[in-house]
Amino acid sequence: METTFIILKPDAVQRCLVGSIVTRFEQKGLQVVGMKMMKISAELAAEHYKDHAGKGFYAGLVRFMTSEPVVVMALRGVGAITVCRNLMGATFGSKAAAGTIRGDFGISNSFNLVHGSDSPEAATRELALFFKSGEVLDYARAGDSWVYDTSAGKAE
Ligand code: RTP
Ligand code: MG
Repeated sequence: METTFIILKPDAVQRCLVGSIVTRFEQKGLQVVGMKMMKISAELAAEHYKDHAGKGFYAGLVRFMTSEPVVVMALRGVGAITVCRNLMGATFGSKAAAGTIRGDFGISNSFNLVHGSDSPEAATRELALFFKSGEVLDYARAGDSWVYDTSAGKAE
């Protein structure tokens, strides 16, 4: 099982798409193990996107991410990091494939609705940045024996 970090960006909140986007992840079978609304500080945005510091889009990206509230989530599942990136689609809404979150809900090349960790190292780092100890929960879902084949003792 992997746990990944997701942000529903300010455009998702302002466009009332939080429910629709959460539904995409839930319908896939991902388990919501952490979720809260927050306003990202300039310091936190800079730390989160530090790999992009110095790029042409960086200042606008930080301004966008700190402009209005976001919803942050921890999502768990087999291969969750790649599964979520595939559900999100390509970075730019105008290029993202139909059927993906970015492909179905947005057309902008700046406002792209959702962030997802791109590696296990990024997921660990980002989860620790945004969630305090105890905010990401371990719990069993009643329906999990139908989401996964657990007959061999592990989720397949
Ligand atoms: P994210 O980190 O938000 O999940 O997005 P990503 O991996 O698909 O894309 P990344 O390359 O990490 O870029 C981070 C965010 O910066 C904005 N961006 N603008 N104008 C541009 O060329 C450009 N490139 C990136 C997007 O908001 C992107 O999600
Ligand atoms: Mg990225």
